[in-house]
Amino acid sequence: MSSHPRPALAVIGGSGFYDFFDNEATTIEVETPYGAPSAGIAVGEVEGRPVAFLPRHGKNHEFAPHTLPYRANLWALRSLGVRRIFAPCAVGSLRADWGPGTVAVPDQLVDRTSGRPQTYFEGGGIHVSFADPYCEELRAAAIKAESDALHMMHAGTMVVVEGPRFSTRAESRWFAAQGWDLVNMTGHPEAVLARELEMCYAAVALVTDLDAGLEEGEGVHAVDVFAEFKRNLAPFKELIRRAVAGVDGTDTCDRCRVHAGVSLPFELP
Ligand code: ADE
Repeated sequence: MSSHPRPALAVIGGSGFYDFFDNEATTIEVETPYGAPSAGIAVGEVEGRPVAFLPRHGKNHEFAPHTLPYRANLWALRSLGVRRIFAPCAVGSLRADWGPGTVAVPDQLVDRTSGRPQTYFEGGGIHVSFADPYCEELRAAAIKAESDALHMMHAGTMVVVEGPRFSTRAESRWFAAQGWDLVNMTGHPEAVLARELEMCYAAVALVTDLDAGLEEGEGVHAVDVFAEFKRNLAPFKELIRRAVAGVDGTDTCDRCRVHAGVSLPFELP
C-alpha cells in the first residue's frame, strides 16, 4: 500500500517540471485499461497541497506528440484522485505581436489532429459538451498568477496539429487567416479526455517560436523550440506554481461536470 496523499491537482508538463515541488516527490506507477501512462506520476507538495506531476512526453522524452498515451495519462491521473489539471505546453505563435516569451491562457481550441484515439466512449451514446474546452476557474487562476518576466495574454485560440512535423508556410498562413493565434501538437485530445473524465483542465501556453507563416528565415526547427522553452522555463514554472497554489477548491467545478443525469457505460476511475 502506498502512503502518498491523494492529489486533487495535477500538472501535465515537460520533464523540466520535476523540481516543481517543495518536498521530495513520491513516484507512483499506475496501470490503466489503456496501458501505462507516459511515466510514473510524481506526487509532492506545493505550498502544503498534494499535487501530481506527469511528464507528458515521458521521463526521457520518449513519446512524440502523435504517439502519446493520452487516454492512459488522463485515466491514471483521475484514478489517483486528480480533479483539476494545469497543462503547460510549448506553442508556436501565429501572430507577430505574440513573440517568444509570451504566455497565453487559451480559451478555444481547434482540432487538426488525425487518427488519435480521442474518446473513452467508443461504444457511442455519450457526447460531452465541449463548446468551452477549458475550465474557466483554472484559466482565471493562471491569469491571476501573472508573471512580470513573461508577456501574458489572457485568451487565444490554439490549433492542434498532428505533427510530429511542423507546419508548412501555407498551412501556417491559413491558420493565421482563420484568426487562430497559437499552434501546438499535444493540446488535443488531452483537453477532451479530461472533460470526458470530468476533470477541470486548462492549457497554459508558452510561445517558443513564430510559426512558419511568420518566420522569415528557414522555418521552425526543434532545436530552437527546445532552447527557447528552456530560456523561459524558470519564470514559466513559477507562474504555474502560483496558479496551482492559487486555485480555490479541489473538486471538479460545476461547468466541467458534464455527465450529470447521464448514465455512463462504466464508472469513472
Ligand atoms: N510547439 C512549439 N512550437 C510549435 C509549432 N511551431 N508548431 C507546432 N507545435 C509547436
